[in-house]
Amino acid sequence: MTSTRILAPLADYLVVNVSSPNTPGLRGLQEIDLLEPLVRAVFRECSGVPLFVKIAPDVTNDQALRIAEMCQRIGVAGIVATNTTVSRAGLVTDPARVEAMGDGGVSGPPVAHRSLEILRLLRARLPRPFALISVGGVETAVHVRERLDAGADLVQGYTGFVYAGPGWARRITRGLNDSV
Ligand SMILES: Cc1cc2nc3c(=O)[nH]c(=O)nc-3n(C[C@H](O)[C@H](O)[C@H](O)COP(=O)(O)O)c2cc1C
Repeated sequence: MTSTRILAPLADYLVVNVSSPNTPGLRGLQEIDLLEPLVRAVFRECSGVPLFVKIAPDVTNDQALRIAEMCQRIGVAGIVATNTTVSRAGLVTDPARVEAMGDGGVSGPPVAHRSLEILRLLRARLPRPFALISVGGVETAVHVRERLDAGADLVQGYTGFVYAGPGWARRITRGLNDSV
């Protein structure tokens, strides 16, 4: 709560991130019984700054909907979907090599399908003004357009930016303008 109080006056929005696979036990906080008191406590300290909750792609559809509906009840601005995945399904890299790399989250194209699926699921149940920030496997203007068409209010990219470099956002914006 201390960090919320300090950061709120400086932030455009705040995110409760309970979805990182890199902090042991963190994703367990996505269980509603644990998450609701945490989100309520942070929300009280936000001083009107929009608050979001970031979820993992590995939650079930039911969990994603229950988290989003709880957020809506509390007055949370929206959901950020999604973080990295703990799944190793569908990777083209040799499984033994993947195994040797150890634990941690997978980002980029392997997350894209589930990220888009969760976006569609949430938007179908939660109309605007409940906000949805879509992230996971977004690399091109076509991907951004797809997320906007699926109901995203904002689109983020992490891995796409890492691999494409500083001109990435500008190229996407131009691509979007060209496609209008
Ligand atoms: C190296 C790395 C570090 C990350 N650190 C954070 C973090 O501190 N907090 C967070 O909410 N998400 C973090 N993420 C998740 C990303 O913000 C994003 O949700 C995820 O990678 C899916 O998007 P992408 O496919 O565009 O990378 C991290 C991702 C990577 C690859």
